[in-house]
Amino acid sequence: MEHKHFHSAVVYQIYPRSFCDSNGDGIGDIPGIISKLDYLKSLGVGIIWLSPVYKTPNADFGYDVADYYSINPEYGTMADMDRLVDEAKRKGIRIVMDLVVNHTSDEHEWFQSSIHPESPYRGFYYWRKGRKGNTEPPNNWTSNFGGSAWTYVPEADAWYLHVFGKKQPDLDWHNPKVLEEVENILRFWLDRGIYGFRCDVINQIWKDSLKDGKKTIWVCGQEHYLMKEGNHTILHQMYQDVFSKYDCMTVGETSYVDFKNARRFTNKELDMVFQFDTISSDRFLVPIFKTRFKPRKFKKTIFNWQRELDWNANFLENHDQPRSIARFGDTKKYYQESAKELATLLLTLKGTPFLYQGEELGMLDYPMFTPKDYQDPVNHYVYGLLRHYHFSEKRSLKLVHNENRDNARTPMQWNATKNAGFSTSEKTWLPVNPNYEKINAETEENDDTSILNYYKKLIALRKENPALLFGDFEPLKTKGSIMAYYRGYEGEMVFVLLNLTKKVQSLPRKISTMIGDVLLSNYPHAGLTYKKRLRPYEALIVKVK
Ligand code: NOJ
Repeated sequence: MEHKHFHSAVVYQIYPRSFCDSNGDGIGDIPGIISKLDYLKSLGVGIIWLSPVYKTPNADFGYDVADYYSINPEYGTMADMDRLVDEAKRKGIRIVMDLVVNHTSDEHEWFQSSIHPESPYRGFYYWRKGRKGNTEPPNNWTSNFGGSAWTYVPEADAWYLHVFGKKQPDLDWHNPKVLEEVENILRFWLDRGIYGFRCDVINQIWKDSLKDGKKTIWVCGQEHYLMKEGNHTILHQMYQDVFSKYDCMTVGETSYVDFKNARRFTNKELDMVFQFDTISSDRFLVPIFKTRFKPRKFKKTIFNWQRELDWNANFLENHDQPRSIARFGDTKKYYQESAKELATLLLTLKGTPFLYQGEELGMLDYPMFTPKDYQDPVNHYVYGLLRHYHFSEKRSLKLVHNENRDNARTPMQWNATKNAGFSTSEKTWLPVNPNYEKINAETEENDDTSILNYYKKLIALRKENPALLFGDFEPLKTKGSIMAYYRGYEGEMVFVLLNLTKKVQSLPRKISTMIGDVLLSNYPHAGLTYKKRLRPYEALIVKVK
């Protein structure tokens, strides 16, 4: 395998709205990001993935682009963006942007023009006549954000398709002009010095047919647009025309992806894909239903993906997911240990690790939002639906909380001053988590045993160890609550041992007879030689003899 920058780099995802506010309006911005580049460098980050910074009406906080060639004025200017790219580059950090092209904003000029039947942009979107004399949507599909996937526009006397929110009309990729325009956008940014793209819901862009979908309790119609042949054709074309011509990195957001499609997406289409099986191991049927964390299932899923793909995009958090420690670790007695155990896992698997802002501090979910502070547009819909079906208020709040995307979007916690040092404003766009006096970058920087300093050591260790970067992945059979694997490269062997639970676990003989030097552990003075037990959430990285 040819080694490219992204094979040895750690990617750090920034949600710009919540990272750092330089002008005191309560909203993060690009100059704020620039001011934190040294922090990212000291952490050991090699690539930043920026959630969308394009002009947007914020119906989905940037995942609704109104102009792909300009910057959201809340975040700064094109000159700020150029400065970010340059200054990051000087520090050895490359910038990856978010490419959101399943849909645009309804405020994009293509869509505004397309409302008129004679517009050259009419065919950029799915405009259709409805059923029953145009009084009902053209099919029964539902949107990922709730309700019908179609909206009627009187001026157009037709309906348009949106598999996400009403303000996110789907582009029609059957129209070759759409690909042409998107390729222009890609070249525009790559030529400006961008290192690549995280491609939003990229396995759903090709709608095979607009026939009715099978009835489900969740999103209806998906079987007509998930990972269709046309989807691969389009991505391969993009690869040929653009990606293959640049030194760049691409990663696809591909919910529901299976091994077969993942292998196709990562062969002359994209470099990597995000699968969501791993982080779904505490969910049941739909994201609001949480089940007890099942270490065995979690481990099996990770091992399967490690086996099936040559190179994974590994992550435990992003801006759409609740924070990971409450899901896969422990927020109470073993908070520190479990946060570090999860960090060890993320940084020692084979593939590129993606870290989400604040994960390196052990940031946690907001205690409990109420509808008046909800920002994520999905929350109101889900809450309303639950109340409609007579769920109690308390239960509805709890169920929304389980998948509330606002949890991971509260402001980054920089220090123990007002608004956690995120902003000088009286009010921030989402409230700061009240735990900021304890959990924040400054406090953790000054504590050698902090989660932040553990991440720093881990990232540095990974960089120095070719086995951790490029080594083969070899799982070791153990009981479900223990995860054990080797990473081997050119005669070097690194062994990783993790207790996924809060219980002491005894080790099988084949491990307890091992001899080796501990490179890093989340417990002080940990050793491996003749080790009989693993303490709660204990994690060890060992050079075996
Ligand atoms: C996935 C993004 O990560 C999410 O934030 C967004 O709402 C949807 N795609 C729609 O663009």
